[in-house]
Amino acid sequence: MSDPFLTEQRRYYAARAPEYDDWWFRRGRYTLSAEARARWEADVREVEDALTAFRPEGRVLELAAGTGLWTRHLVRTASRLVAVDASEETLALNRARVEGEVEYVVADLFGWRPSPEFDVCFFGFWLSHVPEARFDEFWRLVRSALRPGGRVFLVDSGAGDVAHTGIAAGGERELRRLADGREFEIVKRRWPPDELAARLRGLGFDLALRDTANGHFLFGGGA
Ligand SMILES: C[S@@+](CC[C@H](N)C(=O)[O-])C[C@H]1O[C@@H](n2cnc3c(N)ncnc32)[C@H](O)[C@@H]1O
Repeated sequence: MSDPFLTEQRRYYAARAPEYDDWWFRRGRYTLSAEARARWEADVREVEDALTAFRPEGRVLELAAGTGLWTRHLVRTASRLVAVDASEETLALNRARVEGEVEYVVADLFGWRPSPEFDVCFFGFWLSHVPEARFDEFWRLVRSALRPGGRVFLVDSGAGDVAHTGIAAGGERELRRLADGREFEIVKRRWPPDELAARLRGLGFDLALRDTANGHFLFGGGA
């Protein structure tokens, strides 16, 4: 991978691994007021319920699996689960969290080539880190992983998410700061659901996408 921002992005998530979950569980510096926390948790439930209703069964591929916040759900329904991430540090936390059989793969998604055997491809909070220049290529990877009729489910940051963690740094970029003050510039794109769905139709994917009721997340699935 030659793009320096994508390298920095991988370095950022490797360094963030031990504190990543604080954001999801709204702990420490991500703590919210009781009211804001209730809205966040309602949105988390909305996505988790939608994923359950989607029935991620059969052979499931999880891209950018991270610390296992979604792997722990997918492992319950998948007959086979392959979880890919560039960061060994992150996958070590995933392995420690998730009970059940998961095949872990350390790989850079901008170079990795799956075999076309999966019933479902899932990615959480990953698409927003795919730059425009790699967008179509990423969706070709998704297509190449799926068997005919295979399905996709994604969750990501909502376009209007007010509880987000970065500082806009121009264009697709955002500045992120770790708890110890180290700073990284990464790619972060917040897609309005209609805009993303239209873009994906042009690439041959028909996904029903929407924002959660409180606007924190964009989510949905299709084929
Ligand atoms: C925002 S986190 C999402 C983690 C998990 N899916 C979740 O929702 O909690 C992004 C993940 O992408 C991984 N990542 C970053 N660049 C990558 C790359 N080029 N190839 C594969 N994974 C990458 C990071 O290590 C990190 O685990």
